[in-house]
Amino acid sequence: MRFPVFLELPGSQNVYVVEGFETFVEWQRMGGRWIKHEVLAQTWPEKQRILDMLADDGPWERMSRDAFFGRIPLSILGMTASPTAMTILEHHELAPLTTFGVPAKARWFVRVESVEALREALQWAQDRNVEVMMLGGGSNMLFHQDHPGLVIHLAIGGIESLEDDGQHLVVAAGAGVVWHEFVMHALDQGWGGLENLSLIPGNVGASPMQNIGAYGVEVKDHFAWLEAVRLADGALKRFDAEACQFGYRESVFKRAEKGKWAIVRVAFHLDRQSPLRMGYGAIEEELSHIPLASRTHRDVSDAVIRIRQSKLPDPSVIGNAGSFFKNPTVPSTLAQELLSKHPGMPNYPQDGGGVKLAAGWLIEQAGWKGHDRTTHGVHDRQALVLVNKGGAKGAEVWKLACDIMESVNAKFGVELEPEVNQIGLIQA
Ligand code: EPU
Repeated sequence: MRFPVFLELPGSQNVYVVEGFETFVEWQRMGGRWIKHEVLAQTWPEKQRILDMLADDGPWERMSRDAFFGRIPLSILGMTASPTAMTILEHHELAPLTTFGVPAKARWFVRVESVEALREALQWAQDRNVEVMMLGGGSNMLFHQDHPGLVIHLAIGGIESLEDDGQHLVVAAGAGVVWHEFVMHALDQGWGGLENLSLIPGNVGASPMQNIGAYGVEVKDHFAWLEAVRLADGALKRFDAEACQFGYRESVFKRAEKGKWAIVRVAFHLDRQSPLRMGYGAIEEELSHIPLASRTHRDVSDAVIRIRQSKLPDPSVIGNAGSFFKNPTVPSTLAQELLSKHPGMPNYPQDGGGVKLAAGWLIEQAGWKGHDRTTHGVHDRQALVLVNKGGAKGAEVWKLACDIMESVNAKFGVELEPEVNQIGLIQA
């Protein structure tokens, strides 16, 4: 079965869109108006209702998508163009759509602005037996070669406040909303919580994928739920925080569910009075001129922006994907051994055991900070960041990454792991 399934209920004017096994939309005709009910059925017996709707012998009858879109005006569905108006481009250059900016072409490419358009694109690829890849803000990926299949650029927009009790809110944003613009919009409205995550490149849809984090805050701290479309059948499913299995720069979407879903919408818990998080030394320093009692979420955001701008290269000026490596967690014995040789080494003992080390420090100590290979190199103010100075190829950047990993391992006995997704890596 492929989703959505369009249904009508004979004898009534109602129509239904079953989005997946756990969610459907009822469109009810009341006089001249259409009323929309979104129903989430994640537990029994509600889930049975969906199975009944899909059963062949039930009162509901299937209708074609054309019949459905013919019944309800597009404007009421919140669409500007028919979801079937899809432009597939061929041999499309992806460099401008990624922050690293290394050359790579998509054999086929499509930009989608709605869940419906996404499903159309998935169907197109399935009909042709073509591999698909989802592309969001392109901020955490390094292409090693051209992509042989269909690259789907997720550009689903929209920011919506779903719940608001005057202090706490649940706010949902489309996967294609630019992350920093979302944070700025929240601050403009007086909604706190995400200010420490200002200026992180990328889009909202990718933020839970790798549980983005900075200055003591991670997306998981404010995460409510996300909705994703299963690539195999188009089914829409809602994931709560537990289902996402968040970890440090990790989620189920980078592990067991990798490559199976397209995240289309993410909802966050925001709070007009959330406490300011200034525990990170540099933030306190940046804010020292403002009396404690008069500091605002916006002040914290401004401080984070200044710190990031002073250390991290701006991807619109110089290609990069932020931290190329994760900060490694090593056994305490190794940390102790290293500390006896390097007493100044930054180290962060972890609750679950082990000690987290600063990859940037290890790389700098191994002599790589500012390393220059003409077209690419290591950033001179943050050794965790590899940069494309212009004209670098993915494979060249990867060669540099491998040289760094080898050298850090030889010097410290620590294995670094890339944080950036490697696309089309040809294993040696
Ligand atoms: N350090 C060095 N040399 C360097 C870089 C860092 O000695 O070249 C030392 C610093 O002096 C400090 C320690 O390493 O003692 C940690 O550095 P910093 O506070 O700058 O943070 P980080 O561990 O290098 C992480 C995130 C960043 C995030 C910052 C701030 C990872 C992989 N990186 O970097 O995230 O902005 O903390 O919270 O966890 C990103 O993921 O793209 C990213 C930029």
